[in-house]
Amino acid sequence: MKILLKTCQLLIVALVLTGCKNKTEKPVEDTRTIIEKCTDQYTFLSDSIKSALDTKRMMPRNIGKNGQTGLTGIYDWTSGFYPGSLWYLNLLTNDSKWENLALEYTKKLDTIQYWTGNHDVGFMIECSYGNALKKEASAAFDSVIVQTAKSLATRFHPGAGIIQSWDSSKKWNCPVIIDNMMNLELLFHATEISGDSTYYNIAVSHANKTMENHFRADNSSFHVLNYDTETGEVLEKRTHQGYADDSAWARGQAWGLYGFTLCYRVTKDENYLNQALKIADFIKNHPNLPEDNIPYWDYNAPVDENTPRDASAAAITASALLELSGYLSTEKSNIYNTFANDIIKSLSSPAYFAETGTNNGFLLKHSVGSLPHGVEIDTPLNYADYYFLEALYRQQN
Ligand code: GLY
Repeated sequence: MKILLKTCQLLIVALVLTGCKNKTEKPVEDTRTIIEKCTDQYTFLSDSIKSALDTKRMMPRNIGKNGQTGLTGIYDWTSGFYPGSLWYLNLLTNDSKWENLALEYTKKLDTIQYWTGNHDVGFMIECSYGNALKKEASAAFDSVIVQTAKSLATRFHPGAGIIQSWDSSKKWNCPVIIDNMMNLELLFHATEISGDSTYYNIAVSHANKTMENHFRADNSSFHVLNYDTETGEVLEKRTHQGYADDSAWARGQAWGLYGFTLCYRVTKDENYLNQALKIADFIKNHPNLPEDNIPYWDYNAPVDENTPRDASAAAITASALLELSGYLSTEKSNIYNTFANDIIKSLSSPAYFAETGTNNGFLLKHSVGSLPHGVEIDTPLNYADYYFLEALYRQQN
């Protein structure tokens, strides 16, 4: 009888534990506390860079080798992330202090709408003006989105069906990087605003070519493809920021996951959803993914105790997974939602989340910009903070 009772008790405990594991975790209390810490830390950051507001380098990007906050100008590819983070703080707290600051920094980017110098205008304008439009409708801001899409569309090669990432050089004929998937959000947004399907069609063409050419059999992606602009032939498959041409650069996998998820959001094309799921599984099941779910800078980098993690890749992945899980059946959704929440939990821990008043005001520690170029290794990065805040916002909503 005793043995039977004990067995029943164990069975009940096991069932309860299994139930908990399959339930969507939503650590509301923890999230609130972490949001408060984010506002304290960004108050510290914004106060510390106030004097640079009306200079040419006003956007905080990283911590330089000299320990000072690295500030950049509006043409830097990361210039939209600081205003974007301020918008997320406003959306998360409803405190008008963040709205005023976000507006001030967003408007600094006004001239970027006419810039055709590279593909990053999607990041720059969608993270700043795009998020401003989440807060409040504005015809003036709508027109910035549409004009930026016009500028970005000048980089589209109809023969090859792709948007050129960087200008041609001695090294590249027509380089397209996996990161470019992120710029499609702005094109979709411009069609939604203007009703002009040109931008939507360019985005779909680029996504389809990327799906066709950028991925390997194991569902990891190359970083850079070099195209012939007329025929669309892929001339080379290389890396720029990864460990090797045939390795899986961690942030590149995150950009792909986020990019195909957003393509599914807009088009409802199941091929994009399946591509996003394949990338999510590649990341989730990778043998080199550490137990705390924060990847090393490249999934194929040799690992020792000094190999840097990339918190930015983790933050982008978490935010993308939260969106992806919303498009799935309950059972599947729970898997990716739990994975996202586990990543956020790790990023919110003292190992990655900076104590208020430290880390020059940035939220997250331990990201990598470009290890092969020896820059931004194990540093805070403004885009790690941006996608972390976006993930908190998605978690909250
Ligand atoms: N888009 C550039 C990077 O991810 O470093």
